[in-house]
Amino acid sequence: MVFLLQIRIFDNEQQVASALADHIASAVRQQPGIVLGLPTGRTPIATYAELRRLHAEQGLSFARAVTFNLDEFVGIDASHPGSFRYYMEQHFFGGVDVPPERIHFLNGMAKDLDTECIRYERDIAEAGGMDLQVLGIGGNGHIGFNEPADELIASTHRVTLHAGTRRDNAASFGGDPERVPREALSMGMATILKARMLILVATGAGKARCVERMIHGPLTTRLPASFLQMHRSAAVYLDRPAASLLAVE
Ligand code: F6R
Repeated sequence: MVFLLQIRIFDNEQQVASALADHIASAVRQQPGIVLGLPTGRTPIATYAELRRLHAEQGLSFARAVTFNLDEFVGIDASHPGSFRYYMEQHFFGGVDVPPERIHFLNGMAKDLDTECIRYERDIAEAGGMDLQVLGIGGNGHIGFNEPADELIASTHRVTLHAGTRRDNAASFGGDPERVPREALSMGMATILKARMLILVATGAGKARCVERMIHGPLTTRLPASFLQMHRSAAVYLDRPAASLLAVE
């Protein structure tokens, strides 16, 4: 079987994180002014830890890099422990040297959220678009907060989160899905797919089914990650449990 997606399978989660961090590090060394698209979530925590280590121990510098995060909740600010901005400070920005003015975030507290989405698209375009976009995948196949739907939206937009996504994010909201904001802002499908290179990372058996559909299944708005199959330069980094339903092992 021929895959357009490059699939890399590792023995465990730590090996996935090391390989992904090494890839990001060499991309940053080759192109110090790289524009990175970054995810939050449980999956990339070990990768961010490894990048912080490379910064501290090997002098890996992000001083000229530019970052854009994929998404943010509506109605909470950067001081809220559930906000993605807070997460990024804890896991990445607080331990590396990306200058604050080069860090880009959607502001879920903006008065006019539609204008905020337009502003973000403009900032991404002015930065020259993403060179490398790192992605996680939701158990339902979402990327960023592009949830399964009859139609997907191309550019950065406001989104109503699915109940399952709110459950998956409950840990940072006292374990109560009801406290997770109902809405978020997210880069759109085209915003993501325009990145020059994409790497999607998934670990754990809970992701095996959506990974299998993303790689072997048809393109469908019901599994937004399936659109990665159309990308010319996309890779998927998996541990064995996440790869367990694939026909490639
Ligand atoms: C978060 C994001 C989401 C997550 C996805 C997986 O910025 O873009 O699409 O990547 O929900 O989350 P985890 O890694 O917690 O399973």
